[in-house]
Amino acid sequence: MAFLEIKDLHVEVAGKEILKGCTLSIEEGEVHAIMGPNGSGKSTLANVIAGNPVYKVTKGSLLFRGQNMLEMSPDERARAGVFMAFQSPVELPGVGIAQFLKTALNEKLKSMGKPELDAVQFIKRLKTRAQALNISDAMLKRSVNEGFSGGEKKKMETFQMAFLEPDFCILDEMDAGLDIDALKTVSDGINVMREKTRSFLLITHFQRLLNYIEPDYIHIMIDGQIVHSGDKLLAKSLEEKGYDEYR
Ligand SMILES: Nc1ncnc2c1ncn2[C@@H]1O[C@H](COP(=O)(O)OP(=O)(O)O)[C@@H](O)[C@H]1O
Ligand SMILES: [Mg+2]
Repeated sequence: MAFLEIKDLHVEVAGKEILKGCTLSIEEGEVHAIMGPNGSGKSTLANVIAGNPVYKVTKGSLLFRGQNMLEMSPDERARAGVFMAFQSPVELPGVGIAQFLKTALNEKLKSMGKPELDAVQFIKRLKTRAQALNISDAMLKRSVNEGFSGGEKKKMETFQMAFLEPDFCILDEMDAGLDIDALKTVSDGINVMREKTRSFLLITHFQRLLNYIEPDYIHIMIDGQIVHSGDKLLAKSLEEKGYDEYR
């Protein structure tokens, strides 16, 4: 049984078919990257996996550890261990970061039949993960993403991910808007999470991110389909030659 198995997925948004038969399989512990031109359907795929109801699946299947994900609500997917870091993270004014993470973590632990963290354990986990990503105490006191710069939002998403320890992490244009130092910090934060039992799907335009997080496989998406797959060397040739030969 594959960890994630996508077969012939067709997806419509606003009455238009965007994914036109997407097939992709990810095993436990693997890091996959999807590259492709603007508008090829990369974020659509990420949104479908996360369960965004705007995206309508018209054909095909999506299995997570053998379970039919298409029958699961976004919450159920999150509790099953799927985490999505969005291309444009939402702001939650009035919702403090600590409270947000506490609720999310306790829900997850509860669904796994594990005891909730007490206040001391919680603060300890919050502080160590924040430190690793250079996130200040002042920032932790703010509302989720409210008034954060693009780079700060990306950092905060990585922090949430490190804190919640999901089994499957989807990162959409994680590198967008990050300066080189922040990119390095965030990449380090992701690299330490790499484990035999955790898989990643990185979505990116640019080869740059893949210098910091080395994927096991790279896939090229054009017009709603994966048209070519290869190893990490593929990124270099794409950077030089572009997507033309795959169109
Ligand atoms: N929520 C949406 N409403 C309308 N159109 C959308 C929506 N999401 C994506 N699309 C359209 O689907 C196509 C693919 O978009 P997207 O998946 O964001 O591509 P990529 O991430 O590869 O740049 C684009 O033409 C985009 O305008
Ligand atoms: Mg996108």
